[in-house]
Amino acid sequence: MSDARELLAGVHVAPSILAADFGSLRERVADVLAAGARVIHVDVMDGHFVPSLTMGPPAVDALAATVHDAGAIIDVHLMVERPERHVGEFAAAGADSITFHAEATPDLALTAAAIHDAGCTAGLAVNPGTPASALAAMAAMIDVALCMTVSPGRGGQEFIAGSPAKVAAVRDAVGDGTAVEVDGGIDVQSAPLCRAAGANLFVAGSAIFAARDPAGAYAELAASLAGDVTR
Ligand code: DX5
Ligand code: ZN
Repeated sequence: MSDARELLAGVHVAPSILAADFGSLRERVADVLAAGARVIHVDVMDGHFVPSLTMGPPAVDALAATVHDAGAIIDVHLMVERPERHVGEFAAAGADSITFHAEATPDLALTAAAIHDAGCTAGLAVNPGTPASALAAMAAMIDVALCMTVSPGRGGQEFIAGSPAKVAAVRDAVGDGTAVEVDGGIDVQSAPLCRAAGANLFVAGSAIFAARDPAGAYAELAASLAGDVTR
């Protein structure tokens, strides 16, 4: 867990495999790892918390060796109801960090503790309609605060224009000891705005994997953060 914590304290672009070609998933992840990516984002959707179904622990298991051999981590984003029921299986599959939604369980502290007990860093996500203040009481119990910059549920959506102000409010709510991650519509325009507002982790799906050259797109996005990206 300490390795993941240290890594998450840096500035990173986190490619989201949701937008990748699943037929060559390992190769596409290897491409962005070779380009310097150190945080690989895996979006898990259950058809209840959000309408779509995506992937589960086998996808994490399939990528774990490739990602870990590169010195990188797997950042699992659970868009599922009652996330506490799934922590163990994702940790066993090779997740390093597990993020769950504040809207998805009545017991935030129990879920964060279960994630830490499983040996992972813990993230708490808030939807665009959930105030940043929901994170304040949990700041001491989490490693990552995820500020959604679109409504969760699918890739390729437009960045919500008011998000930088929300990111600043999230940073204020959790202080400097917690990573602040943004997710949804992140590209070379929106990433610098979120960086200026206090985010240090930038999830990007279509901006990277829908590009003809994902490694080049990763490098461009990292460059848009003006050299801040941790190597
Ligand atoms: C959306 C997911 C995102 C998604 C981002 O609910 O949480 O991680 O992959 O995709 P883009 O970057 O295309 O908005
Ligand atoms: Zn995500």
